[in-house]
Amino acid sequence: MKVCRRETFNAAHRLNNPAWSEEKNAQVFGLCNNPNYHGHNYVLETWVEGDIDPETGYVIDLKILSDIISREVKDPFDHRNLNLDCPEFAGLNPSAENIAHVIWHKLRKQIDPKYKLEIRLWETDRNSVFFDGN
Ligand code: NI
Repeated sequence: MKVCRRETFNAAHRLNNPAWSEEKNAQVFGLCNNPNYHGHNYVLETWVEGDIDPETGYVIDLKILSDIISREVKDPFDHRNLNLDCPEFAGLNPSAENIAHVIWHKLRKQIDPKYKLEIRLWETDRNSVFFDGN
């Protein structure tokens, strides 16, 4: 059985590879390379898989899951500039893929290993990435 908590956060970022020339960065990343940054309304789906607890009828208490996501993701990332404000991305391009990778590892440390953890991060209505640790 899988259950999901959906949370949102807003953040600014800029995709840039400091090892490349300005021209190559502009060519590869396009508008996402805008030097003055741009924002997204990120939607994070956190999926937890496990057995139904016969005493509660829950797989996991979604309030507890929500609190973990608030602490690990919303508090540090919401209304931030990911490149400038968040040490996780000091040397890491904050693409949706890298953001999802960072988030998954932060959540994994807080969720009982008996559960399987999967996340989907929506950067726009049309673009999302999925990560399950592999
Ligand atoms: Ni972007």
